[in-house]
Amino acid sequence: MRVSFTVNGRRHEADDVWEGESLLFVLRERLGLPGSKNACEQGECGSCTVRLDGEVVCACLVAAGQAQGREVRTVEGLADGAGPPGGLAPIQQAFVDAGAVQCGFCTPGLLVTADALLERQPSPSDADIREALSGNLCRCTGYEKILDAVRLAAARSAAGAAPTAPGPEAPPAPRSEPEPGE
Ligand code: FES
Ligand code: FES
Repeated sequence: MRVSFTVNGRRHEADDVWEGESLLFVLRERLGLPGSKNACEQGECGSCTVRLDGEVVCACLVAAGQAQGREVRTVEGLADGAGPPGGLAPIQQAFVDAGAVQCGFCTPGLLVTADALLERQPSPSDADIREALSGNLCRCTGYEKILDAVRLAAARSAAGAAPTAPGPEAPPAPRSEPEPGE
């Protein structure tokens, strides 16, 4: 079957899609968008997180046909309209500045999830952040730097300054121990 949908503001068509093919497979293997990662393929790790008509979903659990006529946003589209071409989205810059990226495998999913959180809740509490990110697993960071990054992005947004290059401020000091999120 043919699936037509919009990804990061651009119309795409994929032909000969098998009925059981996932949106994640189509994004990565047919459209050449490898930012969404493939790890568990069971909806357990969050590494494949994308937005589907604005909703945060695991692309590995969405059949490609379900995306017909809909809007998908992947990590590759996060920075679109967020600043100068080639710049980072505020949440991406905050992850860099807070040191929240180690191997980076979990990072695309976390960025999409965190961006969606800050869109609907610009000043989330720590509990809100933990709850929102609870479906995104990270094997490297221990989560504290990730929490710092989301706090930093929220603080910059509240201050009306979301620099697209490393700014002078340090990430906020860690607060309480994070929950493992697993
Ligand atoms: S690959 Fe989709 S949740 Fe793990
Ligand atoms: S940075 Fe390696 S899994 Fe999160």
